[in-house]
Amino acid sequence: MKTSIILGIETSCDETAAAVFRGYELIHHITATQLVHTSYGGVVPEYASREHNKLLGPVIRGVLEQSEMTLADIGGIAVTQGPGLAGSLLVGLSYAKGLALGLDVPIYGINHIEGHIFANFIGEKNLPTPFLCMLVSGGHTQLIHVENARDYKLIGQTRDDAAGEAFDKVARLLGIGYPGGPLIDRLSKEGSADFHHFPRSSFDGSYDFSFSGLKTNVMQYISKQAPGFIKDHLPDIAASFQEAVVDVLSGQTMQAARDLGHDRIVLAGGVAANSRLRERMVELTEAEGKTLFNPDLRYCTDNAAMIAYMGYWKSISGSADSLDIAAIPNLKLSFGG
Ligand code: KG4
Ligand code: ZN
Repeated sequence: MKTSIILGIETSCDETAAAVFRGYELIHHITATQLVHTSYGGVVPEYASREHNKLLGPVIRGVLEQSEMTLADIGGIAVTQGPGLAGSLLVGLSYAKGLALGLDVPIYGINHIEGHIFANFIGEKNLPTPFLCMLVSGGHTQLIHVENARDYKLIGQTRDDAAGEAFDKVARLLGIGYPGGPLIDRLSKEGSADFHHFPRSSFDGSYDFSFSGLKTNVMQYISKQAPGFIKDHLPDIAASFQEAVVDVLSGQTMQAARDLGHDRIVLAGGVAANSRLRERMVELTEAEGKTLFNPDLRYCTDNAAMIAYMGYWKSISGSADSLDIAAIPNLKLSFGG
């Protein structure tokens, strides 16, 4: 049936992605990672928009071909509305509006953060809410009580850098490249997490996080070493830093789950791809008889499957948006009481 087929479009940062869903079933998805940013050590917003412009058409054609469909089969367009880079969001949103208008189908503006949270349930007909979500990406580090797909409560958040940002900044300090998270993850496997004890920060009476002190501490540690030391001990330093981040994220999440009586914990966002964090959360939740939802690795970092899936949820609740919807670079989850 035409109306149940959703095309999802994601262009919030440096991945150009498209996906096709039939009902809650993922048919196909493509994520094109922009390589142009690698040599700059971070995402260059202007280049990101230009690359989206170049890649989005071919990516959509590709996903339709692989789904053995044409545009005529599409019954609705789901597109990331925010948060993200303004220019990048605009490319996806304009493309989506053009398609919705041309095909005369509804458009669904999707909050990228909701996409990350519910990426755990891609392909599921029912969402096992309520749960406690650890949202850890390049821009966010939040603990969220998720009552259902509309009702969220913020439990704690970073007071400075996001966890992914800390990975990226420390990777830059160590001179190992961009994006830092996956590189530190890989390097850490060859190193010892006990090599050096970096500080773990916490705040009394709060579930908030802080990572900028840790980053500064790594910087000071590096500056004190003799030439050649860092290069010789790169895996050990990476593993020691990663262990500090994992200790803080997992410790705080488990404490909140205990205090608030949550038996279900959901990991979300790019940092949820971290192998040590996943391993630790499996151990801790198993020890306490809690259920852990770890997104499939393909759906941790930015992708359009999570956007199309949220589009499906919006389509069944009949909440289509108008063609006037704007890109909202600082779009937040709307937190209730
Ligand atoms: O969710 P995401 O793809 O984009 C945002 O919405 O921000 O997250 C990107 C972040 C980057 O900071 C990247 O370094 C981090 O996720 N990341 C990781 C890993 N894979 C991606 N951090 C730690 N370990 C990983 N394996
Ligand atoms: Zn993201």
